[in-house]
Amino acid sequence: MAIDKEVISEIKNSVNIVDVIGEIVSLSRSGRNYLGLCPFHKEKTPSFNVIEDKQFFHCFGCGKSGDVFKFLEEYRNITFMESVKILAERIGVDLAIEAPSQQPSSQNPYQKLFDINQDASKFYHAVLMTTKVGEAAKQYLYQRGLTDEMIAYFNIGLAPDENNYLYQSLSSKYDEDTILNSGLFNLSEQGKLFDSFRNRIMFPLTNENSQIVGFSGRIWAQIDSERKEAKYKNTRSTTIFNKSYELYHLDKAKSIITKTHEAYLMEGFMDVIAAYRAGIENAVASMGTALTPEHVNHLKKFTRKVVLTYDGDSAGQNAIAKSLEVLQDMTVEIVRIPNQMDPDEFIKANSAEELAKLLTQSRISSTEFWLQYLKPENVDNLQAEIAYVERVAKLIARVTSITAQNTYINMVAEILPDFDYFQIEQSVNNERLQVRAASQQTFVRPQESRVVELPVTKNLTAMQRAENQLFHRFLHHDFVLNEFRNRDDFAFENAQLEELYQILCQNGEISDLDLAEMSDDLRQVYYQVLEEHLPEELADDEIIQLENRIDKYRQEQDVRKRSKLIRESSNHGDDDRAMMEFEALIAQRRNME
Ligand code: GTP
Ligand code: MN
Repeated sequence: MAIDKEVISEIKNSVNIVDVIGEIVSLSRSGRNYLGLCPFHKEKTPSFNVIEDKQFFHCFGCGKSGDVFKFLEEYRNITFMESVKILAERIGVDLAIEAPSQQPSSQNPYQKLFDINQDASKFYHAVLMTTKVGEAAKQYLYQRGLTDEMIAYFNIGLAPDENNYLYQSLSSKYDEDTILNSGLFNLSEQGKLFDSFRNRIMFPLTNENSQIVGFSGRIWAQIDSERKEAKYKNTRSTTIFNKSYELYHLDKAKSIITKTHEAYLMEGFMDVIAAYRAGIENAVASMGTALTPEHVNHLKKFTRKVVLTYDGDSAGQNAIAKSLEVLQDMTVEIVRIPNQMDPDEFIKANSAEELAKLLTQSRISSTEFWLQYLKPENVDNLQAEIAYVERVAKLIARVTSITAQNTYINMVAEILPDFDYFQIEQSVNNERLQVRAASQQTFVRPQESRVVELPVTKNLTAMQRAENQLFHRFLHHDFVLNEFRNRDDFAFENAQLEELYQILCQNGEISDLDLAEMSDDLRQVYYQVLEEHLPEELADDEIIQLENRIDKYRQEQDVRKRSKLIRESSNHGDDDRAMMEFEALIAQRRNME
């Protein structure tokens, strides 16, 4: 590590997080804290807190939290070391960071590619915001419903209508390999480099860590009508840009996706932007390519439920059918957009409120989608009707809820003039029998997809609260920590607190470097502990009482486990086991009194 811990602490102690954030977010005092509109997600009422006496921030809306370094990292999309450098400069400390090869930012072999893309985005954004042609392009964006706030949020830019404007601005700063591998430039037949993007509105594409990995450029004004060009053009695949994995806007959407447990999947960038306008921030889009299993795996890191929001035209419907194959082990709902529109056209034709309503309330199940999608063109053709019933009966038989099955059977009966409810039910019944037979033969049941819940800040159990309090005391009262760290009979029940506790025991503190290196989840748990509002002074027997409480909760857990064991053993006819556990239970109960 190039800079040592003390220097970092010194830097942190010399700045006030309220001042640093106050330059970016307008903050007002609220009790002991400061409050403002969160810069990391869109909100109308402030839930972004800056806690001055503890020097950290926390947003109750999106869950982001951290110290002053973390804030700069996230807000400016930079590394921890860069944030240290910025603050060092602010207080006039020269860090004299050694040879660049020692910097963590250079240890990442792709760092230069991230940097050049980042620089390009700044350049494109500046062209849009400060030039005359940029003004015209901005008019185009305004007319499409974007505001300055949205242009900034999506970091939209403009590639000027020139051959090598970007090349000239960046070529002196980067080595040839970086330039050639960035995907931002092409080689002409004469061996000259020129900009890949010309005269296009530029949408930066990021990976989930908000690093820019490429661009998509949209034509917006046909300068010469001879040129027939694709509407959108993406950066070609590079070592940092894999179109089959990355999803537009996932970096900003991911926290809301984990919170709401669902992600909207859309076809176009402008659709994601329209959703954002309607207050829906958990929307992502693939980049003009079909949905791949890699995309799905990427999404699965955050949710098990996808709301497909594709265009209402027939191409969109075909795309839904294809995506459903790839999304097989996810829960899927489908938004039906009327009049063959896409979300962006819908918001234009209606309003943001109407779009929000459509996205949240006009959803159908995948089965209902198939019923409509497979519907024969000519419902008077008996052969086609029979074929249709056979196909949909299979789908309906697999639906777990019988009530839902009945509804679907009714729908099919409505569609087909020559079939009534009972005839279709008959086909479904045949399929039900086969489904059951198949599952009994192989003993495989369709797996319920498990929803992975990430830690939520609120709704802590009594046990978690007690453990948080104890850990809080460890952090702030060395003598308490010292008493515990020598005891090998002590461990936190909560695995993440235990992990933090191990760091604390080993290093004597949880340093800013530790914080920078730990996972987001773990850091959240740490700040959750810091946020406990406790009197500064320890109460006389606070620690003993806390330990007793934790112990009691643990015993209660044991009792619950043991009772379950007894029930199970006796259900399985294992009376000896049941008796043994029962005796143990009684002994434990006696102990607890
Ligand atoms: P707008 O016309 O700007 O509203 O775009 P759209 O999203 O309505 O366009 P469309 O439905 O035609 O395309 C959906 C997505 O496919 C776009 O967001 C792009 O990612 C991609 N796409 C569209 N046209 C092209 C193209 O010509 N080339 C490539 N590579 N991708 C395209
Ligand atoms: Mn569109």
